Amino acid sequence: MFNIELIDTPFEALQTDAKIVFVVGKNFTHQWIKDKETLELMGFKGESEEAIFIPSSKRVYVGCESLQADELRLAAAKALDVIKKSSLATLGIALYSDECAKGSLRALIEGFILGSYVFDTYKSKKEESSLKTITICLEDYAQKPLSLQEAKEALKSAQIIAEATNFARDIINGTPEDITPIALATIAQSLTSIPNVTCKVMDEAFLKAQGMNAFLAVNRASIHPPRLIHLSYQPKNATKRWVYVGKGLTYDSGGLSLKPSEHMVTMKADKSGAAAVMSILKGAAQLELPYEIHAIIGATENMIGGNAYKPDDVLVAKNGKTIEVRNTDAEGRLVLADCLCYAQSLKPDVLIDMATLTGACVVALGEYTTGVMGHSSELQHTFLHASLKSGELSAILPFNKYLKKLIKSSVADISNISSSRYGGAITAGLFLDHFIEEENKSKWLHLDIAGPAYLEKSWGYNPYGASGAGVRANLYWMMKESSK
Ligand code: BES
Ligand code: ZN
Ligand code: ZN
Repeated sequence: MFNIELIDTPFEALQTDAKIVFVVGKNFTHQWIKDKETLELMGFKGESEEAIFIPSSKRVYVGCESLQADELRLAAAKALDVIKKSSLATLGIALYSDECAKGSLRALIEGFILGSYVFDTYKSKKEESSLKTITICLEDYAQKPLSLQEAKEALKSAQIIAEATNFARDIINGTPEDITPIALATIAQSLTSIPNVTCKVMDEAFLKAQGMNAFLAVNRASIHPPRLIHLSYQPKNATKRWVYVGKGLTYDSGGLSLKPSEHMVTMKADKSGAAAVMSILKGAAQLELPYEIHAIIGATENMIGGNAYKPDDVLVAKNGKTIEVRNTDAEGRLVLADCLCYAQSLKPDVLIDMATLTGACVVALGEYTTGVMGHSSELQHTFLHASLKSGELSAILPFNKYLKKLIKSSVADISNISSSRYGGAITAGLFLDHFIEEENKSKWLHLDIAGPAYLEKSWGYNPYGASGAGVRANLYWMMKESSK
């Protein structure tokens, strides 16, 4: 990984192997663009995601649609992409500020770190990058002022946020044989090296004693024992308690309602909610946010075997509600039901669960967007706003009483699947709602990240594989709330 340094000199005075210049809004007249003719000759139009390296002038030109934060992330990532096979060791760039110069710098740095992510754990030959340093000078494209102090703060927060995202990506990309529930717990425990972070790991005996039978049923046919992971960040003088709950299916085969092979591949990513909540806590603790934060993870596999839980079983969850199992592939909601009950014993001010919960959410919103559900329009909208700022796409999926009827059961209090094939993301959210106590209804958000969590085709600055969905959106959200 390269260093990022800040320097208070003019852009043209930078002594780096090459310089990055953004072509903003197809405007080729800016003084830093030295190769207008060559660019024209090469057919470079300055469009978004277009990048070219001109060796004679040692400039990397990148199209940047506007100065919006996410355009900067994208342009920064594309700049590194185009020179990744070169031997350049040092790169220089200036500031490209929108109304919030600090936010723009943060986005630019995030783009560099997110865009340079490579997952090569399972490759025998690793490709080393020659890039050692990116130097950012404080001269701005549009001459907006930013103090060195503010720039330093932006650098620090961008590094924490982007590295937390890459931390989640690494966990999710790990194979089901490597990242078992016990391994996930070990990773969580490693975060206790951060000040004010503690971790408790609970085993089967605890789950039994707590009556978390829905969670235990999902685990039954797995050779890997389950773990309930409880990470906490408790700074002095915390002003609010945020409790996150993550779906940690280290593998989802579907269970006896077995998935077809083509849907089973990528199900190592069914632990993306767990990886996200751990990474959010890591980032928040490093940012020293003034909140008490908990990350509760239900970690297990969903497998088949003679002792597997079955369609027709009736399970009793931690809160005493009975659940008719009609499809063992709707397992995430069973694990989350018990974990949400546990989470509410912590008396949260805000309660957020994150899960790769339904294929229906991907059908509804596409592969790029998180589905946001809950009862509080204020909570939904403040989240949505922060998500947009962070460069993550999110959309609200509204609950309604007609969809709620679809998860009624004739034999138990509730069925684990809907009686209709439509509206599956929302009916899954409404299933979880049965496990939210009345006093917590307006404090709760359910984030279905099934679409954006894992990519089989890269897009923007997200490479093939895990994206770390939800990490940046939530960190931006908490940062914004803490500055109010
Ligand atoms: N883990 C899956 C959801 C999923 C699907 C995540 C695609 C990422 C990509 C979940 O456990 C599941 O299998 N859900 C079922 C629910 C159905 C049986 C009601 C689904 O979406 O098909
Ligand atoms: Zn499933
Ligand atoms: Zn699942």
